[in-house]
Amino acid sequence: MSLAPQQLENAASRYASEAIKCDSQGARGMAIANYQKAIDALVQLLHLYPTSKLNSVYSERMRSYQNRIKALQELRGNDLEPAVDPKASPDERKSASDNRDFEDLVMKEKPDVSWEEVVGLDDAKNALRESIVYPSKRPDLFPIGWPRGMLLYGPPGCGKTLLGAATASEIAGYFINVDAASMMSKWLGEAEKNVSKLFHMARDHAEKEGLAVILFIDEVDSLLGTRNSEVGGEVRTKNQFLTEMDGINGKGKDLKLYVIGATNKPWSLDWPFLRRFQKRIYVSLPTVEARQNLFELYTSPLKKDAKLKTLELARLFDGYSASDIKDVCQAAQMKVVNEMFTAANYKEPVAEEVKPQPREITMLDFREILERRKPSVSSEMIRAYYKWSAQFKAL
Ligand SMILES: Nc1ncnc2c1ncn2[C@@H]1O[C@H](COP(=O)(O)OP(=O)(O)O)[C@@H](O)[C@H]1O
Ligand SMILES: [Mg+2]
Repeated sequence: MSLAPQQLENAASRYASEAIKCDSQGARGMAIANYQKAIDALVQLLHLYPTSKLNSVYSERMRSYQNRIKALQELRGNDLEPAVDPKASPDERKSASDNRDFEDLVMKEKPDVSWEEVVGLDDAKNALRESIVYPSKRPDLFPIGWPRGMLLYGPPGCGKTLLGAATASEIAGYFINVDAASMMSKWLGEAEKNVSKLFHMARDHAEKEGLAVILFIDEVDSLLGTRNSEVGGEVRTKNQFLTEMDGINGKGKDLKLYVIGATNKPWSLDWPFLRRFQKRIYVSLPTVEARQNLFELYTSPLKKDAKLKTLELARLFDGYSASDIKDVCQAAQMKVVNEMFTAANYKEPVAEEVKPQPREITMLDFREILERRKPSVSSEMIRAYYKWSAQFKAL
């Protein structure tokens, strides 16, 4: 059986994490191999689910791994300097390359996700909206500032990346997807400088154009967690990051520069880092109401039996994440399609003929799937999030 999307995504992040670790330790071959595996998992994900809303995010991620592989393969001495116009003055060169670097970082194709498509998670949506939209419209109403750092944490498959994508498409401004691999690839071996350069460029653009600049760091633990063996420049990189966060939180009161971090493993982030994220928002498993809406959403394009009740489904699938529910609906459709193709009387339609259709999906189909498919998040994990929330949540 092929892997569910969440598993593929998890596999991709695991390989990427490993790649980054190897990369930061100078194990070039291993880094390339792991980046490649991460790419392969993402390619599979894109092929299996060509219409998924997050595909532009995944493609972007893939591109950054590919770039990193290319850079690692070409790596000879210090010839990583970008090509510049030889006739330009040093200042012109610097500014041209800064601009290009900035444009390289900004996500070109904004993901096509609206707030409405993110089911439930009202706390998280409100916090993002409040902190970004209101101050952008009326900075005069925030004489003592407003939060710039927001951490989204919670179990996998509940919408952290999706929220990031919705923020990108709903807010006028620049959206920079800062993944660890692209930080590595931009300016290898100088991660701390990269961090300050990134913030410098972001601040510059926020100041000049008055638009919001959002740095979205998905899986922030892989870049800034304590888990990484503290070799090389990792400690310095983290410290640089903290300094930069202080910079945007303190001075430059009207600056619309935000850092949104997302993680499944909030416990691997330490306090100095956490306290710079004034909002720490739990992106939880869907409530029964949210599950009902998710079933509505994901079964809406499918042919359903009139007796199929989404509320009943919502009650049955207690403990399932949003992405589990999407997988469940996909499995239901696959079940009836499979029946159609394998039926004894199935005939390939000839050109003009009406195509045969699968039967309607029933409650029983979902009950069978419920037996076969367990939720991807365990109750121990949920307890761990609650425990962590009790101590660190900040809305
Ligand atoms: N709150 C939600 N509303 C609608 N769909 C969701 C939600 N959360 C997750 N999904 C579905 O699951 C997929 C994976 O979600 P994602 O945002 O990557 O989870 P996370 O980043 O929390 O691990 C999304 O592409 C989307 O299809
Ligand atoms: Mg995610």
